[in-house]
Amino acid sequence: MQVFSQRFWSQVVAAGVCALLVTVGSSDDLAAQTGPSPDPANDITFAKDVAPILQQNCQVCHQPGAIGPMSLMEYQDVRRYARRISRMVESRDMPPYQYDTDVGIQDLKEDWRMTDDEISTIMAWVAAGSPEGDPADMPAPVEWPDPAEFRLADRFGEPDVVVASAPYDVPEVGQDRWWRPTTPTGVTSDRCIRAVETKPSVTGRAVAHHANSSFTVNGERAGRLSEYALGKVGEIVPEGACRRIPAGADVTWDIHYWPNGVEVNDDQVEVGIWLHDEDYEGKYDQTLTLYFLNGGRGYDIAPHGTLMTQGFHSFDTPTRIDSWQPHGHTRLVAASIQILRKDGTLEMVSMVSNWSALWHHSHIYDEDQAPLLEAGDQIVLTHWYDNTADNRYNPDPDQWVGIGDRTADEMAHAWMAITHLDEEGYEQIKAERSRPVSEQPDRDR
Ligand code: HEC
Repeated sequence: MQVFSQRFWSQVVAAGVCALLVTVGSSDDLAAQTGPSPDPANDITFAKDVAPILQQNCQVCHQPGAIGPMSLMEYQDVRRYARRISRMVESRDMPPYQYDTDVGIQDLKEDWRMTDDEISTIMAWVAAGSPEGDPADMPAPVEWPDPAEFRLADRFGEPDVVVASAPYDVPEVGQDRWWRPTTPTGVTSDRCIRAVETKPSVTGRAVAHHANSSFTVNGERAGRLSEYALGKVGEIVPEGACRRIPAGADVTWDIHYWPNGVEVNDDQVEVGIWLHDEDYEGKYDQTLTLYFLNGGRGYDIAPHGTLMTQGFHSFDTPTRIDSWQPHGHTRLVAASIQILRKDGTLEMVSMVSNWSALWHHSHIYDEDQAPLLEAGDQIVLTHWYDNTADNRYNPDPDQWVGIGDRTADEMAHAWMAITHLDEEGYEQIKAERSRPVSEQPDRDR
């Protein structure tokens, strides 16, 4: 009975698929229906369907000289990795942007996630044996921007300040390395940042996995400057807000190099900063700050154990959360941010349930989606850690794990860019959001 019903249902489903093709297909498709039963997957080819998706989502890193371990420019290369590609896109491990698609805010800037359609196209193509199709269908190759130029220069001209990290030698093969030099900015008065972009050197982009930068003044931390992973363009501070660069600031780098088969000597990463004029009045300060979970106190995760920890943060004035970037290491497996309103309601803002410490993203909310908080509303940060052998990134489930800097230790914080408003600014943003889109001011996307 069960066998019968399964066959019955698979026939119903197959018939449903054909019916769909007939309803949406052109007259050519209708003609095809009269021949032998068509296999819809056969219609998907590399040249016509898959190459454009790889251009948009993969080639920035998977081309000769970039950080990806193989090139995905030519059909022959892609075919060789077809199965692995199918697995990696299905699990959303590639492109590397871990952010849940089914809860919380979905409108992000610099969002690398692929659509469900793109993912199923790639999977169906691999399942059908990765056909090349007609080379005449191939899209024109993408003209990649000159890696020697700042990309935001098109829009803002050359940066006002360029700060380079101290030179570093990356060997041809070896373990990951972290390089944390400090370099002066030369900025002598407090200024508001308009935009910022981090750029690896042309040879170094094969090995500079990511590069984060913070400000320090006389050795004291003075806020985050920027965060970079290949493919990222830069950050533009919302109009009216001021992300401050303090007088006399130094830039402290945290660069993750990944030896990748090429020796790179004296490598330097640069950060370009565009400043507002001296008389610009950013009405509201935007700060990029580290917020702890667990009050910043240590915790221990038992061998083969798990742990959940939280952090609560609130402000005396209304605020807008502009971005969220959870931070942890190899035992961190998931992170979320919620808002606990004063009336007791709890709202999910964002969740990453497939965390990977290889990639650190600042999730930047679209300006009309960025969560607004009244004074006294609480931000609730939650992290889940897994020190069992089930965690695929766990280097050693037999260890006790505590808080510390080494990759083998753990961390529990999130970086958030927050605009500090007043009642008037808060009411104004709320009013703008409730107006029809056609009447809203243009914004940077
Ligand atoms: C931001 C850069 C970047 C983008 C974009 C990117 N990759 Fe990757 N990819 C990497 C890096 C670096 C690795 C090796 C480290 C890792 O696995 O994270 C990798 C690893 C892989 C692997 C595993 C290779 C192996 O040896 O097992 C596959 C398959 C892959 N990528 C496919 C893709 C596909 C398909 C896309 C687009 C849909 C894509 N990648 C987009 C950087 C990127």
